[in-house]
Amino acid sequence: MIGTARDGFRAAVTGIGSYVPERVLTNDELSKMVDTSDEWIIERTGIRERRIAAPEQALSDLCRPAIEQALEQAGIEASEIDLLIVATVTPDMAFPSTAAILADELGMPDAAAYDLSAGCTGFMYALAQAYGMMAGGLAQRALVAGGDVLSAIMDWSDRTTCVLFGDGAGAVVLERVDQGGFLGFELGAEGSGGPQLYLPAGGSRMPTTAQSVAAGQHFVQMNGREVFKFATRVLVSSAEAILAKTGHTIDEVDVYIPHQANVRIIDHAVRKLGISADKVVVNVDRYGNTSSGSIPLALAEAQAEGRLHEGNLVLMTGMGAGLTWGSALLEWCER
Ligand SMILES: CC(C)(COP(=O)(O)OP(=O)(O)OC[C@H]1O[C@@H](n2cnc3c(N)ncnc32)[C@H](O)[C@@H]1OP(=O)(O)O)[C@@H](O)C(=O)NCCC(=O)NCCS
Repeated sequence: MIGTARDGFRAAVTGIGSYVPERVLTNDELSKMVDTSDEWIIERTGIRERRIAAPEQALSDLCRPAIEQALEQAGIEASEIDLLIVATVTPDMAFPSTAAILADELGMPDAAAYDLSAGCTGFMYALAQAYGMMAGGLAQRALVAGGDVLSAIMDWSDRTTCVLFGDGAGAVVLERVDQGGFLGFELGAEGSGGPQLYLPAGGSRMPTTAQSVAAGQHFVQMNGREVFKFATRVLVSSAEAILAKTGHTIDEVDVYIPHQANVRIIDHAVRKLGISADKVVVNVDRYGNTSSGSIPLALAEAQAEGRLHEGNLVLMTGMGAGLTWGSALLEWCER
């Protein structure tokens, strides 16, 4: 799916928030848990440490402070939000949705609230959906959160997965603006690649049983090499597609926020796209791959570092389980 902003309708990010748990898990600590090393993890992934949620913290506990910050920055009340989408693969529970739980806790009585599952691309899908609902006249002010507590679905004895991921969340407020804002979206899915990155049990295909638990089928399973190939391909193709569709070139992009999975994947995309390294936002070294939290966390960090200015062209591209991918191009506007 690919499309540009609707004629005469502009919506932009007017508030950003983020949250990561306090607990830092370093590579050295991991090397005491599984057969790995700080050197291996840094060389193959660029990750130095990641955050891990406290046992009592569920996804809504990570999203809540991020949403509160985003609302404060936008200068609006929770009650003014009429659409809340939470992108995640680790909701508090299968149902009710984490979004419904948060809408109640935060006081959003007029909001449609639901979770969206598109793996690490969830935040990009949710942005596009919120934009579409606003452009279609269904929503006036939307809140899009992305976050995951992947530590809850990791096999902490599997060195091929547990070193890569971390916990975190981010949120943005979307409001109508006069100019700038989102210029277009490109989203896709390749379901044939699903088995390369999946969590087999706990759904209707393989309900939870003592056997499924004993077999570790409630943990993330991944074919790292295949996902690597996919990721390097789609980060580039999706970015090129949205730039072409909106009539822009990579040289015009001021800030590039790729999904934070692995520094090698990001470096590959940066080389292939031909964008200069100083325009790229990278924080995977400190947070690992936080799935749906990755892009909003990086966006919040870019803002905190003073890297987002009025009129800047911001390119964001995510990819992940599904296998899925998604890009958005927006013209940054300050309010
Ligand atoms: C997982 C990943 C870092 C592995 O890097 P790689 O260079 O492809 O490494 P390989 O899988 O070829 O493994 C190389 C060796 O390291 C070993 N290895 C794997 N994990 C290890 C770890 N944590 N520590 C030490 N050694 C490890 C492997 O067993 C393998 O050993 P072998 O050669 O004896 O079989 C890389 O494939 C990757 O980043 N894939 C994408 C994952 C991803 O981003 N997923 C989320 C997408 S949203």
